Amino acid sequence: MKRIEIVKGDIAQLQVEAIVNAANRSLLGGGGVDGAIHRAAGPELLAECRSLGGCDTGDAKLTKGYALPARYVIHTVGPVWHGGDQHEEQLLASCYRQSLKLAVAHDVRSIAFPAISCGVYHFPVELACEIAVREVCVALEQSSVLERVVFACFDDEVYQALQRSLARRRTAQH
Ligand code: AR6
Repeated sequence: MKRIEIVKGDIAQLQVEAIVNAANRSLLGGGGVDGAIHRAAGPELLAECRSLGGCDTGDAKLTKGYALPARYVIHTVGPVWHGGDQHEEQLLASCYRQSLKLAVAHDVRSIAFPAISCGVYHFPVELACEIAVREVCVALEQSSVLERVVFACFDDEVYQALQRSLARRRTAQH
């Protein structure tokens, strides 16, 4: 059975095949979820990231997970929110799409996402969660590989917005 789960807690601790990192274009680490993932994975993650030559906004790159329970980390770079007229919505959707595409290409059956761009990049949470749920639902419908997608939330605002987005999507389908 394919499923979406919304959980509270640290994404770095999750038992899934791949976790997604909300990184920056350097891919050389930072604060927030990026910092938590690098701390839990250990220094080898940074060493592999150094070899990748950065990543464009809206794109994604894959590394190993090293000391993490997850086998892979998919690093994606969300857009900084500038008011909504700089393709932020399309770029955020692209983060989810490219991450899911990479996951499927590596036969990943279970993947966890943080709320990309919802921290220091200040994307409006309700809109970000709507985009996240939409892209994940489309990918689950299209892929025979993906079975389980987890949204890992650190704050209540994101947790509740994701619950609302998922409920709206399920109501629309019935
Ligand atoms: N597990 C799950 N979610 C988390 C965790 C965690 N361990 N830690 C924070 N969050 P942010 P962004 C939530 O700022 O907005 C970094 O410095 C957090 O509460 O990590 O995409 C990068 O290097 C929020 O809801 O990512 C970039 O420079 C969400 O994760 C920049 O921040 C995203 O917050 C990227 O900014």
